[in-house]
Amino acid sequence: MSVIKVGLICGGESDEHEISCLSALSIFDAIDREKFQPLLLGISQDGEGFIELQGREDFDSDQNGLPVVPEKGNFQALDPEIQLLFPLLHGANGEDGVFQGYADFLGFNYLGSGVLASATAMDKAVAKEVFIQSGLKVARGEVVRDKNWKNQNFSYPFFIKPATGGSSRGTVKVKSESEVFTAINEAFKYDDKVLIEEAIIGREIECGVLIIDGEVKSSLPGEIKIVGAHEFYDYEAKYLDSATELLIPAPISDQLSEAVQTLAKKAFTAIGCEGLARVDFFITNEDEIIINEINTMPGFTSKSAFPLLWKATGLSYQELITVLIEGGLAKIK
Ligand SMILES: Nc1ncnc2c1ncn2[C@@H]1O[C@H](COP(=O)(O)OP(=O)(O)O)[C@@H](O)[C@H]1O
Ligand SMILES: [Mg+2]
Repeated sequence: MSVIKVGLICGGESDEHEISCLSALSIFDAIDREKFQPLLLGISQDGEGFIELQGREDFDSDQNGLPVVPEKGNFQALDPEIQLLFPLLHGANGEDGVFQGYADFLGFNYLGSGVLASATAMDKAVAKEVFIQSGLKVARGEVVRDKNWKNQNFSYPFFIKPATGGSSRGTVKVKSESEVFTAINEAFKYDDKVLIEEAIIGREIECGVLIIDGEVKSSLPGEIKIVGAHEFYDYEAKYLDSATELLIPAPISDQLSEAVQTLAKKAFTAIGCEGLARVDFFITNEDEIIINEINTMPGFTSKSAFPLLWKATGLSYQELITVLIEGGLAKIK
């Protein structure tokens, strides 16, 4: 069997550029080279074509020492010999269907969700409608397109967030009327469509979903515990190592755990996802399971939640990569 060329696409224009590069570098190191030949292909922050990188040393670094695709170099079109693309892009132009549409247009095969599922999952207001139609419980919400919105339907505190945000950017917990205008303006920095949501009080639970041999499978659920003085799972809590802990498996009853797994698969199918997704829930003090969001390309370093959830479920990081690539290859007509 010949070795299959896989393009690991990373970087790009989104705010999540660095985490995307870290995910791609992790996969580049761990991928089974007896089966696959990985090409590390970076998109710079201004988005000019693809540059092939040979490892960490070919990246620049940001102020925190995290990898960034260099702005200058030999940017090229995609090599037509690549058999499968692994789009390790998070957020805008990557996880929202834009890159997927571009790959479809050029005739490249890729793993993971296609255009419609990626775009649906990215817009929290649209995804919420799909979840409701499928009988999943969601936080009550309202779409706002006007900065002068006046609250009539929500008691304090509630959440304001950009419809297509990520990494908690632009997400604000509003505790009183005097905070509304500033919070709305903050959310509008990221999107011209903003979502208001009732605050759910409870624990935050994440569950991985993966297509294994053509079947939808879910991982053991994990719980995000915020240890620092953070009101919610905000940007700093997410990316400052000591601020959060991921408990796998989540310390919940077997019954709740199974219910979360079933709902995660239901959400995956409702959105029309392919390949993989991480589904995030709240569990209230009354044991109600409420879906928060679905991520079609979750963080993918060996220390990220999605690979850790699968590791606890019995799939090593390298095996997880192989399952995804082989699943992507199996779809090629
Ligand atoms: N309705 C809500 N009730 C309680 N907490 C919320 C709510 N919406 C968001 N949060 C908090 O904000 C975090 C980020 O919001 P989320 O909708 O997951 O956006 P992102 O795509 O940026 O992760 C969540 O992990 C949670 O801690
Ligand atoms: Mg989230």
